Amino acid sequence: MIVDGRQDSAITQAAQVLAAGGLVAFPTETVYGLGADAGNDAAVAGIFTAKGRPSDHPLIVHVPDANAATRFAAAVPPVAQRLMQAFWPGPLTLILPRRPDAGRAAAGGQDSIGLRCPAHPVAHALLLACAAAQPPVLGLAAPSANRFGRVSPTAAAHVASEFGDELLVLDGGATPVGIESAIVDCTRGVPVLLRPGTLTRAAIESACGERLWLPDELPGAAPRASGTLESHYAPQAKVRLMDAKNLQAALHVLGPDAGAIAVYARSPIRTRSPHYRRMPDDAIETARQLFAVLREFDAAGVKLIWIETPPDTPEWEGVRDRLRRASAA
Ligand code: TXA
Ligand code: MG
Repeated sequence: MIVDGRQDSAITQAAQVLAAGGLVAFPTETVYGLGADAGNDAAVAGIFTAKGRPSDHPLIVHVPDANAATRFAAAVPPVAQRLMQAFWPGPLTLILPRRPDAGRAAAGGQDSIGLRCPAHPVAHALLLACAAAQPPVLGLAAPSANRFGRVSPTAAAHVASEFGDELLVLDGGATPVGIESAIVDCTRGVPVLLRPGTLTRAAIESACGERLWLPDELPGAAPRASGTLESHYAPQAKVRLMDAKNLQAALHVLGPDAGAIAVYARSPIRTRSPHYRRMPDDAIETARQLFAVLREFDAAGVKLIWIETPPDTPEWEGVRDRLRRASAA
């Protein structure tokens, strides 16, 4: 059931469902999350079942502010404190050492925990209402509210289309950021970028006061992370990335058959396909609409989506990452 998340009564109802161990979907500034009480392992198990996600894949726990992080984190290293100060509330998840007594199921058994303080007003109101519940719900474990491996939802209707009418969905409109948060692992001694988002590497490094590493630059196995699987965030249709010239040439070769291929490109493309969308010139705007565009193509029943490869510049890193994974399916 979709309800208006801006109504106090909807927030109260959602907090009651969560406090009783149920699931509620809610908007964040990045994508919609499928939430459960992070302190209730049975409730968290419900998320894994609903999503069809392996239970050893850790979830992100959402907290109302940086103080609440210490309910789940055993320590907050200085670099994490600097990142919280710079970007919370906002689209940044920090991996921190986990308190052994907190969030075991949410962490998928890892001794670390992913924490994020979302900037969306509906998410914030929900987290405050949960903290005020009796007994209090101190954090919401919430992965993106989609079935495992699929495109993350950026609208309430996307969530309802994946989980049906039973699930309570707080509607907060279209999510403004549109791709998932950047994830920085702060448990390795140096900050490690596990997943790029819309915050640029330069902005994160400037807040850290040191360089950001990539997982394969460090020895030792990185923790399991669905968002870092090679094939993920995939629509039903097959996605191919090409530069504009090759894309145009391939459409030309296909002639009339090209009408069945969806095209998403920044450059002007000549095609008779009814499924042609212009990609914005701006990375932030593209991130905002990307997942909805992929879902529209799926809903139209196209089998192939051809996408112009985004520019190889820092602000496009998050979008490039999601498209690379979508096309790896
Ligand atoms: O923007 C977002 O981050 C959205 C919204 C709902 O907050 N959430 C989201 O959650 O994308 P999810 O579960 O779809 O992706 C969470 C990512 C996964 O790749 C997960 O494995 C990783 O975070 N993660 C969570 N806890 C971790 C941990 N302790 N160690 C390593 N990776 C972790
Ligand atoms: Mg996800």
